[in-house]
Amino acid sequence: MEQGTAPRSAEAAGWSERRARSVARGVATTHDLVIVRAQGAWLWDSEGREYLDGMAGLGVMNVGHGHPAVVAAIEAQARTLLHTCAHTAWNAPYIELAEALARRAPGDFAKKVLLVNTGAEAVENAIKIARAHTRRTAVLAFQQAFHGRTYMALTLTDKAHGYKEGFAPFAPDVHRAPSAYCYRCPVGRQPTTCAVECLDAVRRQVAVGIGEDNLAAVIVEPVQGEGGFVPMPPAFLQGLRRLCDETGAVLVADEVQCGMGRAGSLFAVEQMGVVPDIVLLAKSLAGGLPLGAVVGRAEIIDAPVPGGLGGTFAGNPVACAAALAVLDVLEREDLPARARAIGERLRAAALAARPRCPGLGDVRGVGAMIGLEFVHPDGSPNPGLALAVVAAARRRGLLLMRAGVYDNVVRLLPPLILSDEETRLFAERLAGALAEAGEAA
Ligand SMILES: Cc1ncc(COP(=O)(O)O)c(C=O)c1O
Repeated sequence: MEQGTAPRSAEAAGWSERRARSVARGVATTHDLVIVRAQGAWLWDSEGREYLDGMAGLGVMNVGHGHPAVVAAIEAQARTLLHTCAHTAWNAPYIELAEALARRAPGDFAKKVLLVNTGAEAVENAIKIARAHTRRTAVLAFQQAFHGRTYMALTLTDKAHGYKEGFAPFAPDVHRAPSAYCYRCPVGRQPTTCAVECLDAVRRQVAVGIGEDNLAAVIVEPVQGEGGFVPMPPAFLQGLRRLCDETGAVLVADEVQCGMGRAGSLFAVEQMGVVPDIVLLAKSLAGGLPLGAVVGRAEIIDAPVPGGLGGTFAGNPVACAAALAVLDVLEREDLPARARAIGERLRAAALAARPRCPGLGDVRGVGAMIGLEFVHPDGSPNPGLALAVVAAARRRGLLLMRAGVYDNVVRLLPPLILSDEETRLFAERLAGALAEAGEAA
């Protein structure tokens, strides 16, 4: 999926061929580049080219690349204790991180924490826990959802093309309902006529398609990520909360992509007037090391019997030490506030460039999680224009990537440590890319 136009050196071509020969074809990439170094908001490839990072390692580097506090924590922990599996004996950073996450997660009740390695693993475990707690089996997920690539997570994921092809059959008793994708309202409302009628479709699915007393869990991304950077309106999430209260189902907020300050608060749900029973974190949690977390009501998290949860590497001390440092950096540098400021600036830049790129149909998002949706004049998805914007941005030294069930959304996902000058540069390069792609369309 090479999108840049710069001539490729022998070395870059060499990497590309070696990769094609030895790496599984199923691992797709947006930019066929080899990144050899990164610092702050900047990336350098094997040919020495410099890029502003608009992808943050797919939402992982909220505190930026090589943050000195995170690197120091990793170095110190690696020298002290690299690994001891939680099933053999505990490590202190695991327990400290569990305490830190339980203290910060939304909800004025006792909470407990399970640590895992990835977002998909967090999703898998949330469903296991919800089923063990409710002694029910049905799970409700949403259109545009993305929850990962393991079997339950993939079953919960909406998009077939690219993610699910050839992998059937999927896990049983997973159901799907419309989500509040307001730009493409599933029930045909306009913002002025909306009374969150999409919730009626959700309720019908639960009452008729599933049966209220069969529902174990409702899993939702407060801001849908891979599905197109679609923020769920607070009223939609509040409706799901009521539904779960009425049915006894567990409300799971998947904040793997929108959490850790990205949305402008440590947890996105904090801005939405909703307290989930379980919240999931991964990606930016450990600032670049693999770590995921399932944080929730103590009595729900404790439903599985001892032995039911865990994993060899889950809660690795180095990853946990990194996560403790990340939490400290997010709070000390007030990066959620910085996310809001960066997001406003980038949103304004995109809107200002719209006259030169009329195919930019929607600019949306929360905090520094901004989606630009591209359309044809009749409003149908225009993935080609989104691709052209990504290519034009790369020619300007800005790496972006697409999202969306129609591949027609460009996501702006920068590290949250962008300085004012870097934010200005990001906005300038983005505006240039929108103008170039828009005028060529
Ligand atoms: C919302 C959400 N949940 C789960 C996942 C899966 O995380 P991982 O790739 O770490 O398994 C992702 C990854 O993009 C995600 O965006």
